[in-house]
Amino acid sequence: LPTTFELNNGVRIPTVGLGTWQAPLNVTREAVAFALQQGYRLLDCAYIYLNEREVGEGIRLSGVPREDIFVTSKVWNLHQDDVGAGLGRTLDNLGLDYVDLYLVHWPIRFFPDPTAANPLRPLNPDGTYKVDRSWDQARTWAGMEAVYAAGKARAIGVCNWSIPYLEELAKSWKVVPAVNQVENHPFLPQHALKAYCDDRGILLEAYSPLGGPGAPVLQDDDIVAVAKRNGVSAACVLISYQVNRGIVPLPKSVSHERLVQNLQVVRLPPGDMALLDGLAARGKAQRLNKPPFCWDLGFDDWD
Ligand code: A2P
Repeated sequence: LPTTFELNNGVRIPTVGLGTWQAPLNVTREAVAFALQQGYRLLDCAYIYLNEREVGEGIRLSGVPREDIFVTSKVWNLHQDDVGAGLGRTLDNLGLDYVDLYLVHWPIRFFPDPTAANPLRPLNPDGTYKVDRSWDQARTWAGMEAVYAAGKARAIGVCNWSIPYLEELAKSWKVVPAVNQVENHPFLPQHALKAYCDDRGILLEAYSPLGGPGAPVLQDDDIVAVAKRNGVSAACVLISYQVNRGIVPLPKSVSHERLVQNLQVVRLPPGDMALLDGLAARGKAQRLNKPPFCWDLGFDDWD
């Protein structure tokens, strides 16, 4: 199996990355340094994870050269009107002068409200998010193309984009997104989105490849059976499943033992791949990550 995939602009991306969402501040630095020393070369970050400073410190602590590491971050919903400034904050946090991949975190812009209890997550009085429904994502993407042209990001892409949103963006994009990062595991394989992105040279990345916090997909009977048959852990099955189908999984862990375990990728037999591909269609379909501002993202399995 390959250890890198090629993006549509020729840049190479490692086939397995380290997720940092919900990595607690007090352990992130050490976990990132350990992960890099164990061989991770792709770090998946975001401004809104609020731990980019610790990730940057972890990079420096690891001793691994910057240019050997593929760093991803994402522009937060609040900063879509000034992508350059959003990326500037992230670079300042990370202590870097470029990222390898910059993504639009959600196809949704928030209205700024500096008086909100949490200005990063501005709420209406009824508790819903202040979403700017009139915002044209083509404007955000033009900002992404500008930071790409300026060399601040070696590649640009999107995150949490369904086919209808990609279709809309395709009307005006000059740079085709290199990546679309979405929730993905055998309960949510997103076959139609995968085919759509394959046709356009957009590489999929899988967040929550184990099912997200608590790793619920690891407990599934069918996953456990595939793991037993192949003599590997259930986590290895879920991570390998993605690499075998040409998707970059981004498992998150801060435990040394699990960080090491999650680097194991094996070739899965076609019969097991078919079984994993079909689990959702056989009654196990489940989207596990449903942020409250995402009711209209256009995923056809969204309930
Ligand atoms: P922890 O960080 O304590 O290791 P996902 O990658 O799908 O987002 O899942 C992340 C969740 O899965 C976290 O709760 C993480 O906990 C846990 N996790 C990560 N790797 C493993 C593993 N190899 N075995 C069991 N649980 C894991």
